[in-house]
Amino acid sequence: MPVPHDIPAETELWDAFAKSAFDAEAEPSFHWTQYAGHGPGAELLNSPESVLEIGCGTGRALAHLAQQGVKATGVDLSPRMVRLAGERWAPLGVRIEQAEVLDWLTTDTGRYDAVYSIFGAAWFTDPSRLFPLARERLAPGGVFVFSQPPAIPGAYGPQGMYKGGFAGKAMFTYRYSYKPAVWERHLLRAGFNTAESWIVDAPEPGHIGTLVVRAQA
Ligand SMILES: C[S@@+](CC[C@H](N)C(=O)[O-])C[C@H]1O[C@@H](n2cnc3c(N)ncnc32)[C@H](O)[C@@H]1O
Repeated sequence: MPVPHDIPAETELWDAFAKSAFDAEAEPSFHWTQYAGHGPGAELLNSPESVLEIGCGTGRALAHLAQQGVKATGVDLSPRMVRLAGERWAPLGVRIEQAEVLDWLTTDTGRYDAVYSIFGAAWFTDPSRLFPLARERLAPGGVFVFSQPPAIPGAYGPQGMYKGGFAGKAMFTYRYSYKPAVWERHLLRAGFNTAESWIVDAPEPGHIGTLVVRAQA
């Protein structure tokens, strides 16, 4: 059963998140895991000329790619984050648009060598709706890559998530968790030619690792 995403309410949640998450002093950086300098890097994108980051948040990864000469476009739900990140990285040529990712992908006519998400919109969007749209936006041979925390054992599918604190206004969203093999099946069903998914262990034993998922059009 699909869960009832309420996009205006989720926009409010992510705008509240943006207040604490955006750091105007932060420098460009690109890493798939939650541990700086750990795990694979931008090489998973196959040296793209153009990229689209979905749920790009602070835009630091886009800024890193723009510095390497990549045409970097991002989309994010939070108007506040889009304004702050857009202003911060515009001098590097980064373009960031405010939209819900499914709406954006439905109307966008661009083609990208890579579409990616780092703990971003791919985590918070129904894969059965997102993946076919991401596939359509890719140039031939293009890659779709995303990362997020691995599923908690036994907790699969959409997971309700309150904004941190468990007090105050009830703001919530849904994030999607599956075992690696299930992510691969979703991607192949959406028309990707290849799909692979693996867990990058945390630097410290027993700490939370990172799920990385990669598919080729
Ligand atoms: C946990 S943040 C991580 C973002 C990014 N990796 C960063 O470094 O800031 C998740 C981002 O996904 C965005 N997001 C969540 N759901 C979305 C949706 N349906 N469409 C577009 N963006 C979405 C949020 O606004 C938020 O900025």
